[in-house]
Parts: sequence; structure tokens; C-alpha cells
Amino acid sequence: MDAAENIEQNLVPDGLYFAGAGAYTIVNELPQDEKAREDLLDRAMGEGRRRKSSEKLRRGRLPSEGLAFSARGAGGALLGTVRLWDIQAGHDAAGKGVRALLLGPLAVDPASKDLGIGSALMRHAVKEAARLGHGAIILVGDPEYYERFGFTGAKTAGLAMPGPVERRRFLALELKPGHLDGAKGLLTPKGRRSSRAMRIIPVSLRFSA
Ligand SMILES: CC(C)(COP(=O)(O)OP(=O)(O)OC[C@H]1O[C@@H](n2cnc3c(N)ncnc32)[C@H](O)[C@@H]1OP(=O)(O)O)[C@@H](O)C(=O)NCCC(=O)NCCS
Repeated sequence: MDAAENIEQNLVPDGLYFAGAGAYTIVNELPQDEKAREDLLDRAMGEGRRRKSSEKLRRGRLPSEGLAFSARGAGGALLGTVRLWDIQAGHDAAGKGVRALLLGPLAVDPASKDLGIGSALMRHAVKEAARLGHGAIILVGDPEYYERFGFTGAKTAGLAMPGPVERRRFLALELKPGHLDGAKGLLTPKGRRSSRAMRIIPVSLRFSA
């Protein structure tokens, strides 16, 4: 059975999934999930996560509207998280900015790995991004994992991250065929600014002309 069939089998109509001996749901992230999410990311990815090039596209921004998800176990424990961000993926051949989403981080609590939760989060995120009308998702991650969801390096050759990136890990999935055709240039952030980012702007800057 491949990963897709496995997920399909484990998904029941009300959005309840089964992993090992337990059940979990995938729901939209809530503001109060922040601490649990950050703790989970530290456990799953370690301190280095804050130094990734992708972080430059996320810092001080909010995730794309309706595209931040939590996997919750029985009793409400956070088992996994995935978020998507509005970006511009360079320009097309006519010089017009290409809008896209950046996916990440995707992480599952180390105690719940290999139960299908990461895959379920990915499929849910891709489905919702398509439903909301987005054209493409870009990410930096292991192709050995993300190819199963349709991500390849075929459409990122002309694109660049705002920092170092291993080319083989720079991947994209078109939700609308041809959306990234001819896309060339730097990925830049386009997300809504978070009020927290506004709050930490030094007073001297906030009131300068
Ligand atoms: C990567 C991650 C999100 C996968 O979630 P998960 O719920 O454990 O994964 P799933 O149960 O959906 O899938 C498990 C399968 O993916 C494989 N897999 C997991 N991470 C992989 C990776 N980085 N590269 C290749 N395969 C990987 C497992 O070996 C397993 O393979 P199998 O189906 O042949 O047994 C999770 O392991 C995690 O949080 N890792 C740390 C954070 C991280 O590195 N995130 C970015 C990933 S590039």
C-alpha cells in the first residue's frame, strides 16, 4: 500500500484520523497554540531551525489566511504542525510578480513519528491551498519525503532563496498547471505583518519620519 492509499484509508469523513493506537484530528491552528507549537518545533527540529533561509520569508509575518494547521491527539495534545506563507516567487517572462506559498515548517512530535501524521498534514495543507485558489507551493526539504506529495525541483531552477539553499532540496508543487512557468528571481515575503513584529520595532524607529 502506498502512502496515499494509507492516508485515504485512515481518513474518515468527519476528519478524524487514526495513527497507531490513537486518533487525531487536523484543525486550523488557534492563536493560543503558539507555545505548544514552538515547543514542538524545538523538540522536532532543534535550535538550528531559526537560522534557515526560509525563516527570512516568515519572520515578522503571519501565515497565509486559513493555512496554518495543527494535528491534535485525543485530549487535545499537539502532535504536529504545518504552516504556509504568502510569498512572491520572482517574476514571469513578462516581468509580472508570481505569487505563491512557502510551506514550512512541517513537524511531528518525535514521539508520534512514522504514524502518517506528517503525510496527513501535508495532504490537508495542499488540498486547502488549492481550494483557496493558490497557484503553487514552494518548500525547502528532503525530496525523498516530499516527492510522494508531488513536489519536484522541475520548476525552481530559475528561483533563488534569500540565503543558502541546497538545490536538490528546493522544491515546488503547482496547484494550477503552468503557474510557475518561466518564474525567475528571488523569493520575497508577501505575508501580512504580525502585530508582534510591529510591537518589537524600537521606539526610535516607530516614531521616526
Ligand atoms: C519529516 C516529518 C514531518 C515526517 O512526519 P511523520 O509523521 O513522521 O511522517 P509520515 O508518518 O507521514 O511518513 C513516514 C515515512 O516518511 C519517511 N520520512 C520521514 N522523514 C523523511 C525524510 N526526511 N526523508 C525521507 N523520508 C522521510 C519515513 O521513513 C517513513 O517512510 P515509510 O513510509 O517508507 O516507512 C517528521 O519526521 C518530522 O517532524 N521530522 C523533523 C522535522 C523535519 O525535519 N521537518 C522537515 C522535513 S524535510
